[in-house]
Amino acid sequence: MRPFVHINVAMTADGKLDTFERRGAAISSPGDKERVDRLRAEADAVMVGGRTLLDEDPKLTVKSERLRAERGARGLPPNPAKVGVVTEAALRPDSNFLTTGPARILIFTTSQTSRGQIEMLQSHAVQVFVHDGPQVDLAAMMEALAAGGIQRLMVEGGGTLNFELLKRGLVDEITAYVAPMIFGGAHAPTLADGLGVTRGEAVPLELKQVNPSEDGGFVIRYQVLR
Ligand SMILES: NC(=O)c1ccc[n+]([C@@H]2O[C@H](COP(=O)([O-])OP(=O)(O)OC[C@H]3O[C@@H](n4cnc5c(N)ncnc54)[C@H](OP(=O)(O)O)[C@@H]3O)[C@@H](O)[C@H]2O)c1
Repeated sequence: MRPFVHINVAMTADGKLDTFERRGAAISSPGDKERVDRLRAEADAVMVGGRTLLDEDPKLTVKSERLRAERGARGLPPNPAKVGVVTEAALRPDSNFLTTGPARILIFTTSQTSRGQIEMLQSHAVQVFVHDGPQVDLAAMMEALAAGGIQRLMVEGGGTLNFELLKRGLVDEITAYVAPMIFGGAHAPTLADGLGVTRGEAVPLELKQVNPSEDGGFVIRYQVLR
């Protein structure tokens, strides 16, 4: 059993999630930030990959007071749980990820993470799952999330984690805000990076919706067919 998994990204017309500088370039329009906030408010948990977690230190909280109040009225905590997937965790105790909330926090990692780091995370009430092997077992992670009450998981990148989830058939839906700009850059992150697949192994999608946005971009929604 696994949660319903939904990837959301903001990308340029050439599919880039960031510039070659990898400094978390702004891509979303103001209207798109509100759409992402609504998606977070509908999720039980929001997940990021290790590079996004450690390099960008995202808060991953619901920004709108009204949306947090609506979650409360539905008997939910104000923010969805935050989930980080990282081979070797190296979070600072004062990081945004750990200190902005309130929110339940889960970290899936490997034995490459130091004992001191795990103790620090646990002292912040973080649930730490340590997988044997060189990487986190993503299918087992999904089962653990479902067992922990996460029914709807929103994945907010980056491209490496997105690809690894798509490749394993662990994604149900993708939404992308496509901004009217081009970053280029052979090494700039895209919606799905990793090693890639052959044409025969391509992940099939079904187009569900396309909505133009006020700034000349558009939002596209795909169902993943496997
Ligand atoms: N525009 C957007 O919507 C958006 C959203 C998010 C991120 N971004 C951008 O994307 C870039 C970061 O993306 P990224 O592709 O470099 O990294 P990423 O997907 O954020 O993180 C990849 C990392 O996840 C960890 N991981 C642990 N277990 C894994 C597993 N089984 N499979 C795959 N990954 C596993 C690894 O951590 P270790 O490194 O510890 O091995 C791996 O390096 C940044 O430039 C960020 O700004 C953009």
